[in-house]
Amino acid sequence: MPAERLRVLPTIRKAVFPAAGLGTRFLPATKAQPKEMLTLVDKPIIQYSVEEAAAAGIDHVVLVTGQGTKLVEDHFKINAELEALLESRGKGDLLAEVRSVPCPASISTVQQGEPLGLGHAVILAHELIGDEAFAVILSDDVIDATPPALRQLIDVYEKLDGPVVGVERVSADRISDYGIVDAEPVSNHAGVYRIHDMVEKPTREDSPSDLAIVGRYILTPDIFPILDTTPPDAQGEIQLTDALRQLLTGRPIYACEIDGVRHDTGSKLGFLRATAYFALKHPDLSDTFREYLRKVGVNRPAGN
Ligand code: G1P
Repeated sequence: MPAERLRVLPTIRKAVFPAAGLGTRFLPATKAQPKEMLTLVDKPIIQYSVEEAAAAGIDHVVLVTGQGTKLVEDHFKINAELEALLESRGKGDLLAEVRSVPCPASISTVQQGEPLGLGHAVILAHELIGDEAFAVILSDDVIDATPPALRQLIDVYEKLDGPVVGVERVSADRISDYGIVDAEPVSNHAGVYRIHDMVEKPTREDSPSDLAIVGRYILTPDIFPILDTTPPDAQGEIQLTDALRQLLTGRPIYACEIDGVRHDTGSKLGFLRATAYFALKHPDLSDTFREYLRKVGVNRPAGN
């Protein structure tokens, strides 16, 4: 077998979590805490995607945070004092809950002083990522999937040897909220597309398709020099979509339609839906919460 056929792609070990958004849609709750720390049932939003990353084999988490958001980093570190207290009080069940928070082998934080966009957040992680392929996870997009959404992307990366973005079909009225790809299916790979073009938040009329980029990416290090020269958009933000569009001129990029249930917890309605979804799946809550929802539905005044 020729040597290049034996070449094994390195697995994806590092993931960047941009978490410096101002969370303005959730003010005043986000006045002093990052939106990633808002609770969905009993876990902060960001824990869902850190768990997903851990299940996909990620052992180095790079958090790109806003100023004064050490809270996120602390959440994923062992809290020895709290554990000792729970242990001394015989609270074994609570201790198990605290210990179930994933503690990645390595967790690093970079400060994004100004909100200059997703592309800028990725640039800031360059030094910690180095010269290897890596994942980017937008934790607003909470995805319940088996295998985990990120694992689905890594599988495509390992088979096709190119950057991969997670996509999902969205309704026409949501198109302008997303990066949209123009892509064609790859034969013999269900749910995988080769991207021809991509555009950030097009109007419904100008959109090339209904395949929207959701917050999961596998990127290769050749994205960094492109990001460094990507001009900011009209809002002054460096868009990752613009850099990927440029990268497309030199190599194939793939889209993987994620098989799972995604919640956009960046909007109030999406956050509430996700809360209901995970409450209905929670072993201690599902029956009583279902009963509550039934009651609320039954007692709803006519016409609402
Ligand atoms: C970002 C990306 C966009 C993508 C979206 C997914 O936009 O720029 O391409 O579709 O995340 O959530 P944002 O929602 O940060 O404005």
